[in-house]
Amino acid sequence: GVESLARIPPSVLKLHNKKNDAWTAIHGKVYNMTAYLPFHPGGENELMRSAGRDGTKLFALTHAWVNVDFMLDDCLVGFLVPEPSS
Ligand code: HEM
Repeated sequence: GVESLARIPPSVLKLHNKKNDAWTAIHGKVYNMTAYLPFHPGGENELMRSAGRDGTKLFALTHAWVNVDFMLDDCLVGFLVPEPSS
């Protein structure tokens, strides 16, 4: 359920920027896109541009019509949240 999903700040998202461990945030949701990389029609390198960071703008620029919510539903890790203040 949604209550078990993680709250992920940018500093944690940033750690997952490798091909074998690639997360991105789109529209506030964080996805583990590692398994999807070889299947991306735009290629792995394009997809990796969004790895470890908020990919919302890149995603909107390339294909705002693609339903990422539906496509990567099984890869949902959690929600992007602001960095906790120290
Ligand atoms: C194409 C999915 C992220 C760049 C596509 C297509 C899909 C897709 C389904 C084919 C679209 C079509 O033919 O109408 C996704 C998903 C993403 C993602 C689920 C979520 C992480 C990105 C990002 C970039 C990107 C972040 C760029 C930095 C491209 C490009 C194409 C493409 C350039 C066009 C390839 C071509 O037609 O030659 N993507 N994409 N994608 N994607 Fe993505």
